[in-house]
Amino acid sequence: MKVSILGGTGDLGKGLALRLAERSEVIIGSRDPEKARSIAEQYILEFRAKKGRDSSIIGMKNNEAISKGEYVIIAIPFEVLPQFLDGLTVDTSKTVIVPVVPMKKSKEGFSYAPYQVNGQQLSAAELVRLRTGSQNIASTFHTVPALRLADIAQALDYDVMVAADERLTYEKVATLIRSIEGLKPVYAGKLYTSRYLEPLTPLLLNVAINNKLHAPSLKIV
Ligand SMILES: NC(=O)c1ccc[n+]([C@@H]2O[C@H](COP(=O)([O-])OP(=O)(O)OC[C@H]3O[C@@H](n4cnc5c(N)ncnc54)[C@H](OP(=O)(O)O)[C@@H]3O)[C@@H](O)[C@H]2O)c1
Repeated sequence: MKVSILGGTGDLGKGLALRLAERSEVIIGSRDPEKARSIAEQYILEFRAKKGRDSSIIGMKNNEAISKGEYVIIAIPFEVLPQFLDGLTVDTSKTVIVPVVPMKKSKEGFSYAPYQVNGQQLSAAELVRLRTGSQNIASTFHTVPALRLADIAQALDYDVMVAADERLTYEKVATLIRSIEGLKPVYAGKLYTSRYLEPLTPLLLNVAINNKLHAPSLKIV
């Protein structure tokens, strides 16, 4: 599989790149192509140091990265998503994955803060659907902590819920998720259910703070 990670130089991008590199070709996207190349080299070194093998990770500008992967993961901060989507054109053959979680922090803790568009509240994934016109969008990875992903010496054992309008899109993304050992995909429903998946991140952050847990995740039993 070929996976492009836009904003792949960040925390989630690193974790996903290192895990996906086991079985996929990974393309790291960045606003700065030099940064993308240098970070991709660092990921290759880290993968080799921990796994004793080579991996296929390359870096380039975000808009070039989009054209390379069959999967495109949008791993950029929620605050910049609306402006990021202004310049984004996605080919309908791509499967777009949105792990973005819009949230706020106050002295009481974290809370979900969906986007407001023409008086309507939208999840990040619905905003991506509205702005790109793509139907092959999946909302997932919200509850998988970047820290845990990036620690590739450690085993994972999490369920990962996925929202997608088309069952076929879900199946495609489920294949990618299963390629990461220890992650099990679970179909949550059509893309609107992203409104219930994205708030799980602020919930888990509050659970972590209030119970002194480090980077908790989820498993459905
Ligand atoms: N961190 C987690 O554990 C986690 C878990 C689940 C979901 N998420 C979600 O995943 C997304 C990424 O999280 P993260 O922690 O990886 O974020 P991050 O490290 O803060 O940023 C990711 C990348 O976004 C790019 N970026 C920053 N400002 C930008 C702008 N104005 N325009 C375009 N690109 C910009 C940067 O790449 P360049 O400078 O190279 O362009 C940066 O490396 C977030 O939406 C978050 O809600 C995170």
